[in-house]
Amino acid sequence: MDIESASNQLAEKVQAASEYTGQGKVAAYIPELAKVDARMLGAAVCMPDGTIVSAGDADVPFTLQSISKIFSLVVALCQNGHKHVFERVGKEPTGDPFNSIIKLETIKPHKPLNPMINAGAIAVAGMIQGNGVEERLDAILGLLRSVTGNRGLSVNEAVYRSEKRTADRNRALAWFLKDSGVLTTDVEETLDLYFRHCAIEVTAKDVARLGMVLAADGIIPHTGERIIPREVARICKTFMVTCGMYNASGEFAIDVGIPAKSGVAGGIMAAVPQRMGIGVFGPALDEKGNSVAGVKLLELLSQEWNLGIF
Ligand code: DON
Repeated sequence: MDIESASNQLAEKVQAASEYTGQGKVAAYIPELAKVDARMLGAAVCMPDGTIVSAGDADVPFTLQSISKIFSLVVALCQNGHKHVFERVGKEPTGDPFNSIIKLETIKPHKPLNPMINAGAIAVAGMIQGNGVEERLDAILGLLRSVTGNRGLSVNEAVYRSEKRTADRNRALAWFLKDSGVLTTDVEETLDLYFRHCAIEVTAKDVARLGMVLAADGIIPHTGERIIPREVARICKTFMVTCGMYNASGEFAIDVGIPAKSGVAGGIMAAVPQRMGIGVFGPALDEKGNSVAGVKLLELLSQEWNLGIF
């Protein structure tokens, strides 16, 4: 794709989608997230040669939140193998909100249905090995730094503390998992790791690079270095299609048709196989927790560039 026209088209679509920011609200259940300007919208596209084009608020830092669940899953799969991980967390979409507890109790055995919901991601955090929370976090941070080339990536301490103080629902999920035998590591330490990886701070440009590596089956395209096993990248992209946009994943697959993962800080990471990674930041969310303008923007880009994979 010609870089100049890609850049112009991206700017045009960001402007068009900006009108939708007024239709959403910033996440308020993590108090620190409620402080951001709901009208922001930015996006970056990373091409296979590593070129980045961007528009709008693409340099504004925000926290990964649930986008980090893809990369904690990568680490857990690489450290423990598929059998160990999928004995403890399933592969099915839930149709429920991301923080729901209901199916944990009603489905037997009591294992979370997939690693993209909070219960599943907390179970995955429990499988990340290391000596103490810092070393366990470093396994995820190290991967993210290598993939983005951004050695400065780190945790936003204010967001981390804000979630830790208010995360009673996640605590309930974690203790239920402990009671069910899914979580066998220390509950508070595992929650601490989960809150920290959710609070890793990025920009839309970093997220575009993350998406591009998944789009390239785990290879950093412009260096040729394999950073994620091909099979693990394939599993991640499949989860992005089936569960990446929570209980709006079906609608998103039909309207946009790209593997994508959202987070409540307003980020969306999209991976268009072999073609591009897209990072979006728009903190005004719809009622399911996805960026309103971000989803609209991806729909417009998908139509313009024919990105749908189905
Ligand atoms: O555990 C939580 O609720 C947040 N740290 C992450 C949730 C999230 O991003 C869901 N996204 N739509």
